[in-house]
Amino acid sequence: MCGIVGYVGQQPAQGVVIEGLRRLEYRGYDSAGVALVSDGAIAHDKRAGKLANLEKAIAEQPLPAATTGIGHTRWATHGAPNDPNAHPHLGRTGRVALVHNGIIENFAELRGELERAGHVMVSDTDTEVAAHLLELAVVAGRDLTTAMQEVSRRLEGAFTLVAVDAQDPSRVVAARRNSPLVVGIGEGEHFLGSDVAAFIEHTHEAMELGQDQVVTITADGVQVTDFDGTPAEGRRYHVDWDLSAAEKGGYDWFMRKEIYEQPRAVADSLLGRRTPEGLLQLDEMRLSDDELRDIDKIIVIAAGTSFYAGMVAKYAVEHWTRIPVEVELASEFRYRDPILTQRTLVVAISQSGETADTLQAIRHARVQRSKVLAICNTNGSTIPRESDGVIYTHAGPEIGVASTKGFLTQLVACYLLALYLAQVKGTRFGDEIAEIIDQLEQMPDHIQAVLDGDEQVYELARAHVDNTSVLFLGRHAGYPVALEGALKLKELAYLHAEGFAAGELKHGPIALVEDGVPVLCVVPPRGRDFLHDKMVSGIQEVRARGARTICLAEEGDDTITPYADALVRLPEVPVLLQPMVAVVPLQLFACELATQLGHDVDQPRNLAKSVTVE
Ligand code: F6R
Repeated sequence: MCGIVGYVGQQPAQGVVIEGLRRLEYRGYDSAGVALVSDGAIAHDKRAGKLANLEKAIAEQPLPAATTGIGHTRWATHGAPNDPNAHPHLGRTGRVALVHNGIIENFAELRGELERAGHVMVSDTDTEVAAHLLELAVVAGRDLTTAMQEVSRRLEGAFTLVAVDAQDPSRVVAARRNSPLVVGIGEGEHFLGSDVAAFIEHTHEAMELGQDQVVTITADGVQVTDFDGTPAEGRRYHVDWDLSAAEKGGYDWFMRKEIYEQPRAVADSLLGRRTPEGLLQLDEMRLSDDELRDIDKIIVIAAGTSFYAGMVAKYAVEHWTRIPVEVELASEFRYRDPILTQRTLVVAISQSGETADTLQAIRHARVQRSKVLAICNTNGSTIPRESDGVIYTHAGPEIGVASTKGFLTQLVACYLLALYLAQVKGTRFGDEIAEIIDQLEQMPDHIQAVLDGDEQVYELARAHVDNTSVLFLGRHAGYPVALEGALKLKELAYLHAEGFAAGELKHGPIALVEDGVPVLCVVPPRGRDFLHDKMVSGIQEVRARGARTICLAEEGDDTITPYADALVRLPEVPVLLQPMVAVVPLQLFACELATQLGHDVDQPRNLAKSVTVE
């Protein structure tokens, strides 16, 4: 969703801001704009469509030189994605420029108040009222920081606001409530960004902000306060990935690059998890062993792909620890009055750490005094900060809107959590846990083996460009994989794609099967005979009704050969770990099919990477 950049320092601000916006493009947007402070005035431009439209406009009508500026990529909520609604928005006299991410819930009331006082709004956005209010405060004599504190106290909803004042080029001021914002700390320059990608080419030093805080950056310093002006501290941290991680490195899509990064991402997420004595350790768990021993129920909350990682977690946690697990869509969780106690552990899985539905769900859980553990890929994001503990995944930045390495590393974190609980609760012997960790440590090689067979999957994808409907079947831990395969195809190729639990077929979905419909089938390893054989029967049933079966089955499984129109081989791994290899061909399939159809794989229509509104 919206991307925000702010800069003050010695460099030409226009270049820094536009480059920052480019690095945030992956978040999804429909218009872009920039405002600079130059010679006591605000110079700005904003355009609907891609960043290239803005750049073209600026090339035709250049903005003046400046070393202070802000920029924005907008994902429309209030008002159509057109030029007037794009950000920045200006105050009544044009002295203040402001960009915003989030939704100001009381904007209608504020707009009415301003209009009654003679203000004329030129956009349909909720944002413009904040620009007018802020300007009124600076015109009344407040500095921009004090004005921002004052205005923030009046706003309801979720917002990151970033503003500049034409009469004070020394500072950029931001406010944050429920929407992401991080500070980049340079030498003689400072940055603001929706995430660190916005400034990673300039500095690796970052500061996360708390809830309801105002931050002022100048060339030489950073000052943080709460909305009342009381000084506050931000947490500084070092970003350990570099610019190359935020670039495509020769691939056509970030998504494709991220698929091929999965062996590395999984290996990195497993690093440093064992003590010299061979025990499992989770650095930022922050929940004591006593607290964990006391847990009698786990509820996993997440959205989209992260939800499917949660479904896999249920199989692993229940099997290894015997703790009952529920998996719930974050957007549904707090509306059903869930039964939560102090002995419930709520596990929030979120790649971005900013998904509004998941954030609101954990807040609800904490009010009920349940413990919350986050599984997250983004240091400095809100969900881990508001949780009692966190397991960070180490996938590096995930830029393609469709989650791939995020998913695989979430699976790693879920397995580690399950094994850690088994260790603490004593539901598995130490050597059993050690053996499973050994198996996990072999997964990067297995994933690489699947990637090495990419050409076969690409050919299959190319052969299916004319299909309008694709089905996916799985059982047990393969069921969430089927759902994930279908989600990838929906979001990238815009096809009708559905995933089913194979056992449910005859309860309805089999009616969808007709001549030639492709059905991708995730076949469980043979070690689980009862599962495997049931799946093979399901495949026979759809094939008998005309389906074209594409089976993903482990090496050496010949029972499936007679019923497979195409057979993609998977390495032999334990059933609970199979999702980590089985999902990879489905990612490749969706990526290639969408590419063949000419779609923008990294920024599919209507989607945003980080869904920061409910
Ligand atoms: C699918 C996808 C989304 C996200 C979902 C949750 O490819 O990317 O379904 O998985 O929006 O996002 P996070 O994990 O950031 O909370």
